[in-house]
Amino acid sequence: MQHLKPAKTLALASACVAALWSGAALADPDLSADLMIDGELHIVTRAPADDIVPNLSERYSGWLFRDPATRDMQADDFENPAMLAVDQGAELWETAEGTAGQSCQDCHGDAEESMAGVRARMPHVNADGELWSMENYVNNCRTERMGAEEWRWSGGEMTSMTAFLSMQSRGMPVAVQIDGPAAPYWEQGRDMYYTRYGQLELSCSSCHEESTGMMIRADHLSQGQISGFPTYRLKNAGIVSIHNRFRGCIRDTRAETFAEGSEEFRALELYVASRGMGLDVEGVSVRP
Ligand code: HEC
Ligand code: HEC
Repeated sequence: MQHLKPAKTLALASACVAALWSGAALADPDLSADLMIDGELHIVTRAPADDIVPNLSERYSGWLFRDPATRDMQADDFENPAMLAVDQGAELWETAEGTAGQSCQDCHGDAEESMAGVRARMPHVNADGELWSMENYVNNCRTERMGAEEWRWSGGEMTSMTAFLSMQSRGMPVAVQIDGPAAPYWEQGRDMYYTRYGQLELSCSSCHEESTGMMIRADHLSQGQISGFPTYRLKNAGIVSIHNRFRGCIRDTRAETFAEGSEEFRALELYVASRGMGLDVEGVSVRP
């Protein structure tokens, strides 16, 4: 993997980290906060740590690290700007497209039933032994079953669809398979998580494990969980995919990054998903 550059010295990395950090460490996330959607659906935002995350005392959703205004937006479906995309996804679900003249619904029926729990176990290994993200499954149905063109990984149609599909697992705990055929991918993802990237020589762990709770520029560093994805980012005024977020984080270390949909990012996605086991799928979260 030519993108990866091993760290020369820890001291250099620490100096760079120090240059990025601004202000004193904030305390931990707001543990008094409780995510209740529209006053009725409770979302689990804290889960016990286990062997998968030996360096964390507890698993925390990124929601706990956000300011109260952003948190409130996610707790109210009328306020949550991601719901527009969810509605668009629902429309796409019913729309026939491609040479077979079929819609997703024609085969899968009511998404509330057929897609319940699907997001919670993504990414997962397909029948050919390949690790696929949700986007791969959707595009495979489009090209192989509908005779339609594939959607761009982070394009509007795909993020609307993944937002809609994630909603069908809202409130269900993340439960990805990491053993059996998934094991080599999981290990690849774990290695990536601890690899120091770029001129700053920072790994995912440098920020999201060692420095979680601290401020970096204006951001309160979370554990970098993906249980809330896809997410509506206020900064982008749109839906952001998991792989798009990974790209942004790696770019911040001034490294070249991997492509969205690449085998590397799918493996990283599996590993990061496993770090969030027991947290609930948030459907569509809101982040700064
Ligand atoms: C012609 C029928 C057909 C159409 C149309 C179709 N699918 Fe599928 N889809 C399937 C079959 C068959 C599977 C494999 C089912 C399995 O192995 O559990 C599948 C699998 C999936 C999966 C993976 C489910 C899982 O449990 O892992 C997703 C997600 C999915 N489809 C989404 C879509 C979406 C979104 C559309 C519309 C853009 C669509 N499908 C259109 C037949 C179809
Ligand atoms: C230089 C520090 C830094 C590094 C290195 C870094 N990130 Fe991030 N990451 C951030 C900041 C800052 C945010 C936004 C605040 C937050 O949610 O933590 C963020 C957010 C995220 C989020 C969104 C969390 C949420 O709840 O919305 C994910 C997922 C994520 N990072 C994954 C990763 C992964 C995987 C890597 C390694 C490839 C990585 N990050 C490397 C700084 C970093």
